[in-house]
Amino acid sequence: AKIALITGGFTGEIEISLKSAAFVEQKLQTSRFDVYKIILTPESWYHVDDAGIKHEVNRNDFTLSLKDGLVKFDLAFIMIHGSPGEDGRLQGYLDMIGLKYTSCDTLTSALTMNKAYTKSLLQGIDGLYLAPSVCLSPATRAVSEINVKNELKLPYFVKPNGGGSSIGMTKVKQLDELSSAIDRALGTENAGKQVLVEEFVSGREFSVGIYNSKAGLKVLPATEVITTREFFDFEAKYIPGLTNEITPADLTNEQQGRVEQLVKEVYIRLNCKGLVRIDFFLERETDKFYFIEINTIPGQTETSFIPQQVRAAGLQETDFYTELIEQALV
Ligand code: DAL
Ligand code: MG
Repeated sequence: AKIALITGGFTGEIEISLKSAAFVEQKLQTSRFDVYKIILTPESWYHVDDAGIKHEVNRNDFTLSLKDGLVKFDLAFIMIHGSPGEDGRLQGYLDMIGLKYTSCDTLTSALTMNKAYTKSLLQGIDGLYLAPSVCLSPATRAVSEINVKNELKLPYFVKPNGGGSSIGMTKVKQLDELSSAIDRALGTENAGKQVLVEEFVSGREFSVGIYNSKAGLKVLPATEVITTREFFDFEAKYIPGLTNEITPADLTNEQQGRVEQLVKEVYIRLNCKGLVRIDFFLERETDKFYFIEINTIPGQTETSFIPQQVRAAGLQETDFYTELIEQALV
């Protein structure tokens, strides 16, 4: 089968997307698939062939005209964090031209890129806690800032509601820092024009992958993140050594069972497909799992959580990616 490994993107996560795609491409080298990497930027959708020649994708059917002939793909393997690969835009286009893809569908991708909407969809899951929050836009900002001050306890996390990799995010410890933190989040490119202000949860941070394997939903071993920084920010995420990541995480059997159940319930409630990763805080005092967010195109750089979890599960990466592709082709 011919696979278009689509990467690049329109946001500050582009470099991470390229690294994730390079990792997957390398792991698929020994697979039975023909993989063509395609890079999407706002200006150009292109493939670079072995001779270093750049070929634009035909945008009406996502085919490639190479010197040996026309390449028609059987599947798109989406590896773009943020817009347009994680927010449903690319999925909508692929639906229109009838090309299958690995990832959640258009609606789920669009909804889950919006952290506030995702939280509202996850209300009522037994044992899943949601930090109190206020979502604001430039139009509602004045009123919402008052609501934040009246309703939420400091410190706050202030983030672009449609962002990723902690870009544009600030931990606010004093009220007089709120306004500039909101400005910063609103100014983040292509991350939606909304800001989520959440109460900070004091606890341990975990991240758990899940996918629809041939044998049904499979939850990967959890990773615990212990950072020396104020929070798990962009630098902590991608500069090796700033964070200690423990996979499998040191959880009791009871906690492990509980988080696995929550991960499955979230996956089902949001109608996910393929591989996703869900992040939690475990509040120290109460032992409650708080949902942070879901990543429908989780990071897959050499040092990202998902590759760690795949290895900790005893799987070979090539087999794992082969299974994701086979499941998406069904
Ligand atoms: N948004 C980053 C890539 C992640 O969730 O891993
Ligand atoms: Mg994220």
